[in-house]
Amino acid sequence: MTSEPARVPVDATTTNAWGSLTELSKNLDPDLRGWFAADPERAARLSHQAGDLHVDLSKNLVTDDVLAALLALAEEVGLAEHRDAMFAGRHINVTEDRAVLHTALRRPSDEPFTVDGQDVTADVADELAKVYAFAEQVRSGEWTGVTGEAVRTIVNIGIGGSDLGPVMAYEALEPYVQDGLEVRFVSNIDPTDVAQKTADLDPTTTLFIVASKTFGTLETLTNARLARDWLWRSLVAAGAIEDSEDGRADAVAKHFVAVSTALDKVEAFGIDPANAFGFWDWVGGRYSVDSAIGTSLAVAIGPDAFADFLAGFHAMDEHFRTTPFEQNVPALMGLLNVWYVNFRDAHTHAVLPYAQQLHRFPAYLQQLTMESNGKSVRWDGTPVTSETGEVFWGEPGTNGQHAFYQLIHQGTRLIPADFIAVANPAYPLADAVGDGGAVAAGADVHGLFLANFFAQTKALAFGKTADEVRAEGVAEDLVSAKVFSGNRPTTSILAPALTPSVLGQLVALYEHITFVQGVVWGIDSFDQWGVELGKKLALEIAPAVAGDEAALAAQDPSTAALIAKYRELRA
Ligand code: F6P
Repeated sequence: MTSEPARVPVDATTTNAWGSLTELSKNLDPDLRGWFAADPERAARLSHQAGDLHVDLSKNLVTDDVLAALLALAEEVGLAEHRDAMFAGRHINVTEDRAVLHTALRRPSDEPFTVDGQDVTADVADELAKVYAFAEQVRSGEWTGVTGEAVRTIVNIGIGGSDLGPVMAYEALEPYVQDGLEVRFVSNIDPTDVAQKTADLDPTTTLFIVASKTFGTLETLTNARLARDWLWRSLVAAGAIEDSEDGRADAVAKHFVAVSTALDKVEAFGIDPANAFGFWDWVGGRYSVDSAIGTSLAVAIGPDAFADFLAGFHAMDEHFRTTPFEQNVPALMGLLNVWYVNFRDAHTHAVLPYAQQLHRFPAYLQQLTMESNGKSVRWDGTPVTSETGEVFWGEPGTNGQHAFYQLIHQGTRLIPADFIAVANPAYPLADAVGDGGAVAAGADVHGLFLANFFAQTKALAFGKTADEVRAEGVAEDLVSAKVFSGNRPTTSILAPALTPSVLGQLVALYEHITFVQGVVWGIDSFDQWGVELGKKLALEIAPAVAGDEAALAAQDPSTAALIAKYRELRA
């Protein structure tokens, strides 16, 4: 039996553990050099395996006492009970009165699981079977457009969770994409996005997937209409359809499918519900890449690889669900983030993949983490009692090294950073040509790449003292500029290769890290009311932008002046 989460969140700041952490932080003099010297086992003790991920936490600014206090905090806020409540389908999304069951999307299909009277396992399996059947039809060329041509380009139209997950995973798993298929992603309501993505496309071989949980999102519906107009116009121009209602309906039937929880709205848009894939309100948008929202990905990489992707998520779910918190990687990483935000005054957190294919991973994580934990009230409506959601950001290494690492190494802010790499590249490239200096002839380029990962985490942890700088013969007036303080915390994550399963494990890892932080802070990590006001105001302001003087006069002076300026500048 699992228990319900407490209706009133525990105020973490009143716990004994919070008091201990405050004291420990006050007295902590971070000394990674000293800590490693005193404890040769530190790296081994603080490294853990979660599925295929080797995670080294040893370069974090924690002592055993700090870790013990963080684990005590987890106990006092009821982390295990909350985790179990999530997995059991309790309505932990309190403000929307919903279960939070993205973990059910990747459960084995032979394990029955009923929530709120719904056979979730069967529902998930049925919908997945539909997605897979569609994927096979497109991949085999059985699905054809109005002229009988097979699909060569899929354009996914969605935004937020209906875009960031699929595009991140598509880029990450590009080596698994079937030859001759390409997926493009349109998200921004800036009409340039549709225009650029369709500019060189052949409409007869293009299929649009309109992905929207609510099917009410302004950007997505606007872009879907723009895409539909483009399709009609270009098919008519190519002589592929009659310029008639029937011709247009045929075009939509063969070139548009949808993914949504609102199948009635899909039909109202003109897409046959038979060509729509559903999911459920218990899947949050930013937790939905493993639902039918991943249809574009499933088509691109195929059902087998997609199933492997889901299996990876499940492996991490099981790790989080069953591993004692002492070795539980998502729990430990979430608690470390709390440590940095609440006790070490960290405002941001860098995620630095040393894998070019993960170049969209930080962007994906920004929605996952910040839409989830950017909250000022707790799930019972009372104000939070501590700082919450830090800013997540990042770029792939080594590019970031030549841009913003300076600030991480020598700036005044503490920026915890996660370094992520895979041991085996997808594209084994030719050996480096030796430059006769640092790069030996025949050097493995991937090894050279990862040498940067290891060098950066080492430099951040251990720095360079003034004496070491002097020993290099540096003039005294330059010594201080060349000193690296060290004690800049990093977590290193290494996987064998960027397989679909490993990607699923990585995503699930961060989903659960986000959850752990939310539980400590007592916030509902699954709603996103903060995005509503701007959406509403945009609709109210649109008439003013379009020339309605009364609507313009109703705006505040700054907004009215900006709109007037825009109207003046607009040719
Ligand atoms: O930005 C708010 C939001 O609701 C996100 O949570 C969501 O991922 C995105 O908009 C898109 O929503 P939908 O899938 O319903 O179009």
